[in-house]
Amino acid sequence: MSADIIDGNKTASLIRAELAEEITRLKERDNIVPGLAVVLVGENPASQVYVRMKNKSCREIGIYSEQHNLKAQTSETELLALIDKLNEDPKIHGILIQLPLPDHIDENKILYRIIPEKDVDGFHPVNLGKMLIGKPGFLPCTPFGIQKLLIHAGVQIEGSHVVVVGRSNIVGKPIANMLLQKAAGANATVTVCHSRSRDLPAITRQADILIAAIGRPEMITADMVKEGAVVIDVGINRIDDPNSKRGYRLVGDVKFDEVAAKCKAITPVPGGVGPMTITMLLYNTLQSARNSLSG
Ligand SMILES: NC(=O)c1ccc[n+]([C@@H]2O[C@H](COP(=O)([O-])OP(=O)(O)OC[C@H]3O[C@@H](n4cnc5c(N)ncnc54)[C@H](OP(=O)(O)O)[C@@H]3O)[C@@H](O)[C@H]2O)c1
Repeated sequence: MSADIIDGNKTASLIRAELAEEITRLKERDNIVPGLAVVLVGENPASQVYVRMKNKSCREIGIYSEQHNLKAQTSETELLALIDKLNEDPKIHGILIQLPLPDHIDENKILYRIIPEKDVDGFHPVNLGKMLIGKPGFLPCTPFGIQKLLIHAGVQIEGSHVVVVGRSNIVGKPIANMLLQKAAGANATVTVCHSRSRDLPAITRQADILIAAIGRPEMITADMVKEGAVVIDVGINRIDDPNSKRGYRLVGDVKFDEVAAKCKAITPVPGGVGPMTITMLLYNTLQSARNSLSG
């Protein structure tokens, strides 16, 4: 068997084209331009790349974006003051704090200061609570992107056994929760595994849909996957590669070639879940602008 490749770039550009149309309509009809503020503290090179990509993606579809670059020594008080200002700013509908923050800043204190109405990353406990009880709110972008990708690829979610490896607050726990909901694009039976799970391969082999969000290069091997399963690889890991110009290459949490030979469909890394994450950030920002119309 040779797997179908679930192309995140293609799905992301389809969704972005729809968002761009809706943004144009919103401007014409309601005279409102969705706005995103991206806050970067310090000079982490990977974070700088992510922030640039987010700003560029905003511009491409007509979202106003502004970038706030703060020095690594910025105090928690200064950062909180900036968030307070952005919370009040009517041209800003979404606030994104690029993580990780420097060690002297309490990440939760910062994230919880963003008002839930502008929490387009979906990390505020109010939005996470709404997700848990199945009420509308902002869904965290990576799990939201995974769900959209599964739906666009025509994967049968309802009634399927989904096994999620990883229980982080930003990927594992929310995707497990979202696919468990009594709702369209969900209704799955979900098992969540982590580093203390006993006999992981025995559990992953039961998955109709296997979601790997571990952060360990190529940990999921063919013997851990059921024939005909759908495999979603969330991991983004750098491994040394002297043959590459950059000296490294990106791999997922799944050993792609051997798993692709056995499963029904699989996401590549890069080009799978990654492009969907930013797309759902844009989606949430548009949603927030729409919400602002109804007060
Ligand atoms: N594509 C995207 O847009 C995107 C977005 C976010 C993250 N990512 C990538 O996704 C990966 C996961 O990110 P994350 O933030 O969720 O990571 P994380 O916070 O480090 O969580 C990793 C999870 O994997 C579990 N784990 C680690 N080793 C394991 C093992 N040997 N067996 C079973 N479970 C194991 C951990 O278990 P414990 O809880 O027991 O420690 C933890 O729950 C990373 O590669 C990250 O770069 C990609």
